[in-house]
Amino acid sequence: MTSEAPIGVFDSGVGGLSVLRHIQALLPHEDLIYVADSAHLPYGGKSPEFVRARVLSVADTLVARGAKALVVACNTATALGIDELRARHELPVVGMEPGVKPAAECTESGVIGVLATSGTLASRRFQNLMHKHAGSAKVMAQPCPGWVELVESGAWSSPLAREKLRHALHPLLHAGADVLVLGCTHYPFLRTTLSEIAGAGVTILDTGEAVARELKRRIGQNGLLANRDRAGVVDFFTSGAIDAVRPVMERLWGAPIALQALTD
Ligand code: DGL
Repeated sequence: MTSEAPIGVFDSGVGGLSVLRHIQALLPHEDLIYVADSAHLPYGGKSPEFVRARVLSVADTLVARGAKALVVACNTATALGIDELRARHELPVVGMEPGVKPAAECTESGVIGVLATSGTLASRRFQNLMHKHAGSAKVMAQPCPGWVELVESGAWSSPLAREKLRHALHPLLHAGADVLVLGCTHYPFLRTTLSEIAGAGVTILDTGEAVARELKRRIGQNGLLANRDRAGVVDFFTSGAIDAVRPVMERLWGAPIALQALTD
């Protein structure tokens, strides 16, 4: 494995692009491979066994393409599959988890809302996270059914989307939550609407940037930082229908994408 090899980044769909943009900004010389496992989303409502099998399969594909490090740009996949992934591959693997720790540090009301998939919230990893980092804060865990589909369908700013978001936030805001944690990588794409609904007094946190920093630290530590002058290139793959996935990806990424079919 050489420092000139690409970094593999994956999610169930387009959500991980919210992490990829931070990675590209922080590591502009790295080549990146992004995989959207669109044929199998959403991961959130699937069994732990199913999600684990997908994580291993996508990771195997990225390793076979020569990845020097992996980023699991999905909270659900991290919660359910990262231990097995780390046991299987020796390269640096960086995962995502809801930002309970920074939220507990910055709440003034003592009430935190965590927005995530039911798969993440039901996982042992999330229970451990709460145990370790919530401190005296009251954590309200809110599953958000349908939010991933809103982003994937491109309808994230529709009146229906706003209504769904308002409905999920209502109990949290009513209970006095002053910090909302975006515990799914799709949700940063709903951030504008979420902050309009929540209002100026509520802080919204996501961990995409922290994950990019952790990736930089890990590959630096392993002597794997790319040493080149040219800008890195990004290759995009999906296991889903290219014509359906590409337009949404391009809107979220903000540039044309030569999307390729993933065959595992
Ligand atoms: N983006 C994934 C996450 O961070 C979840 C999406 C899904 O349910 O497929 O949890």
